[in-house]
Amino acid sequence: MLELLPAPPADPLWDLAAEFAADPRPERLNLVLGVYRDHTGATPVMSAVREAEIRLAERSVSKEYRGLSGNTAFNRAMLSMVLGTEALTGRATAVQTVAGTGALRLLADLVRRTRPGTTVWISDPAYVNHRPILEAAGLQVRTYGRLDSAGLPDTAGLLDDLSAARRNDVVLLQGCCHNPTGVDPSFETWEELAALAAANGWVPFVDLAYHGLGDGLDADLRATRMLADRLPEVLIAVSCSKNFGLYSDRTGCAIVLGSSRQTLRHVETALQNAARTLYSMPPEHGAAVVTTILEDEGLRAAWRAELDVMRHRITANRADLVVHLGALGCGEQAASLAGQKGMFSMLPLTPDQMRRMRRRFAVYGTDSGRINIAGIAAHRIPLLAQGIATVLETARVAPSA
Ligand SMILES: Cc1ncc(COP(=O)(O)O)c(C=O)c1O
Repeated sequence: MLELLPAPPADPLWDLAAEFAADPRPERLNLVLGVYRDHTGATPVMSAVREAEIRLAERSVSKEYRGLSGNTAFNRAMLSMVLGTEALTGRATAVQTVAGTGALRLLADLVRRTRPGTTVWISDPAYVNHRPILEAAGLQVRTYGRLDSAGLPDTAGLLDDLSAARRNDVVLLQGCCHNPTGVDPSFETWEELAALAAANGWVPFVDLAYHGLGDGLDADLRATRMLADRLPEVLIAVSCSKNFGLYSDRTGCAIVLGSSRQTLRHVETALQNAARTLYSMPPEHGAAVVTTILEDEGLRAAWRAELDVMRHRITANRADLVVHLGALGCGEQAASLAGQKGMFSMLPLTPDQMRRMRRRFAVYGTDSGRINIAGIAAHRIPLLAQGIATVLETARVAPSA
């Protein structure tokens, strides 16, 4: 039977990661995947996570099944971390999911169960998995633009595109540190989006994967909380992969704000039903770690301090790249990078130029120009800038480069 299977398309990101792994050049630089790396190039277990794991190992008594909503203490802790106030958590329900991807998929299923054929608007460009997840759940996808040709925010274009979103459409917005562009709307633009949603009756669906890695945890959650405050219904997919460094523990949750307790009860059951047919229950370990951290004042403070260190490293790397690009005569390109936030930056390079970066400098980013800014050791930044300048043909490469 399986010989009938048509050749499926390979995943371009993981293909690139495999190409990187096979590259024999010692100076090769992997900036493909969204994984935080410290100055040594390692993706460490955060100290707060390590401490929580030790405490859990000492007191764990059972690995019995959890309920269909996963770890309910985790769900409460996430509601309070993301929404911040009882006024908002009191209007919300949360279900633990298999990381951010699982939250996106469960919420997409919820939309389909509520209203089959719903149109969901995603950004152009979008996180590479947004469209496939939504289409796999049977939803229609349309796109809205966010940036002008120089890679800077195009607020008029964004609002104009989204003025076509109708009542009960869903608009997927990344809450902070947009992947792949690194460009976020200003808070004023977020407020205009909230007003547009209120006027036209569409529902925001916020994807939170990088909170804490842009301007700080509360600052990165500000737009999401404002939407939750001003609108009757909001869907939120939360990932703990990046800000707790729990990538392989697959930890996240789906949050829904609704206008009545009855609706929220139906929502929770619908999310449980969706999970039941996909994987039944989410894995416990990462959720237990996050709960242990968030419920303990000392561990929570240690985690926030570590998250700040990660954020400062990302910000310093980007600022350094901007300075070096400027010094190499790429002022315009540097200006577009300067305002970007979070783990990713979008280089103003064509797919062909990105391939030349791989061949000539062993620098691996995606063909779209996206690089993981956290993946660069500080001492490699001058060489990265030199590579960018070279493929832009604005500077001559030094013989040693
Ligand atoms: C914007 C965005 N949303 C969701 C995810 C999914 O993350 P997770 O690994 O938690 O499934 C990612 C991962 O890169 C992402 O960049």
